[in-house]
Amino acid sequence: MLGNFTYHNPTKLYFGEDSLKYLRDELGNYGKNVLLVYGGGSIRKNGLYDEIIAVLKECGKNVTEVPGVMPNPTSDKLIEGVAVARGCKADFILAVGGGSVCDYSKAVSVSVNCNDDPWEKYFIRFEEPDCEIIPVGCVLTMAGTGSEMNGGSVITNHEKKLKIGHVFGDDVMPKFSILNPRYTMTLPKYQMCAGIYDIFNHICEQYFSGEDDNTSDYISEGLMRSLIHSSRIAVKDPQDYEARSNIMWTATWALNTLVSRGKTTDWMVHMLGQAVGAYTDATHGMTLAAVSLPYYRYIMPYGIKKFARFAAEVWGISRDGRSDEQLAEEGLSAMEGWMKEIGLVTDLKTLGATEDMIDGIADATLILDGGYKVLDRDEIVKILKASMG
Ligand code: NZQ
Ligand code: ZN
Repeated sequence: MLGNFTYHNPTKLYFGEDSLKYLRDELGNYGKNVLLVYGGGSIRKNGLYDEIIAVLKECGKNVTEVPGVMPNPTSDKLIEGVAVARGCKADFILAVGGGSVCDYSKAVSVSVNCNDDPWEKYFIRFEEPDCEIIPVGCVLTMAGTGSEMNGGSVITNHEKKLKIGHVFGDDVMPKFSILNPRYTMTLPKYQMCAGIYDIFNHICEQYFSGEDDNTSDYISEGLMRSLIHSSRIAVKDPQDYEARSNIMWTATWALNTLVSRGKTTDWMVHMLGQAVGAYTDATHGMTLAAVSLPYYRYIMPYGIKKFARFAAEVWGISRDGRSDEQLAEEGLSAMEGWMKEIGLVTDLKTLGATEDMIDGIADATLILDGGYKVLDRDEIVKILKASMG
């Protein structure tokens, strides 16, 4: 049965090749002091930085920059950004980049006026902000996380060897996001594919739970089919606008709070992947790809009907003459074939994990109870060992 829920997503989206033209109007809604947040330099190389600065100048903004937000942004970098935001009395944060830049900007936005240690408050105690939040807007350059239309913010603490996400509420979600698929075309193929798998797994995390006849699951199947189709085109021709735009739009819908409405969700692949990330600093989507097949093969018997449905509805495998068990296994084999076809990393060793990290990674894995099987620590170790390759 579809559970009771409230649905409200406050982020306004501008999608398409001309979407940057809306930035000027949006900036008019906020104060003069803008904190411009971006990553390690891709926006300088592809010219987007110059375009953004020109708009900010035209709008008469005082611009202060926080460059160098790294993939898997850290708690140390958060402290640095908060100090810069306080120094310039930021009225508005403009995030220009991928999920890391968007996530980081949200973390800064709730920390500037917070008297507590943000890492402890938001990422250890999972408290909600009780201070003024600086509004955030995004110009997205990478499709994957859904951070452009959700309240998620994932921060890594290298000292504690933890990578933790907090899903904040409506007030922290971006006020607007500008999504131009052309901006994603300068992504290295490795990042494009990691993003594609991140999208796919966001859908899986919300699909592999519950056994009800649920509209969300039908939406999820459609999103997965579209993504598989477009990914195959984009891998062959990264400049295919139709494929890249479908991937970008699917990424937003995969994790913008819609498909989880009224149902339980799993998120254990992400818990495993984040713990791997805390130890290896590997690319998020690849950490998910490396643990997924051992995880899903392990929990499959506990959710056999859904895995059979996945095989039939997402991978188009005929139900005729097949038991649920056969179907379920063939579905995961089809998924494995697609993962290899698009060039995902499917083992942890390639990502820099070593056997002596397994205990620590297992300890850093948060155990959630929304999926088909609540894992214990021994099972987590078993899955991690099977993921080493
Ligand atoms: O830093 P720059 O130079 O910009 O380079 C980035 C970075 O090296 C590069 N890149 C991005 N757009 C580009 C580009 N290079 C060329 N052209 C472009 N157009 O790509 C690299 C990766 O970028 P990053 O932002 O780290 O990737 P992604 O979007 O996958 O974000 C990953 C972070 O988001 C978190 C992850 O854990 C990770 O920390 N997540 C956030 C979620 C959320 N908010 O809901 C959910 C996700 O599950 C995820 O956990
Ligand atoms: Zn993810």
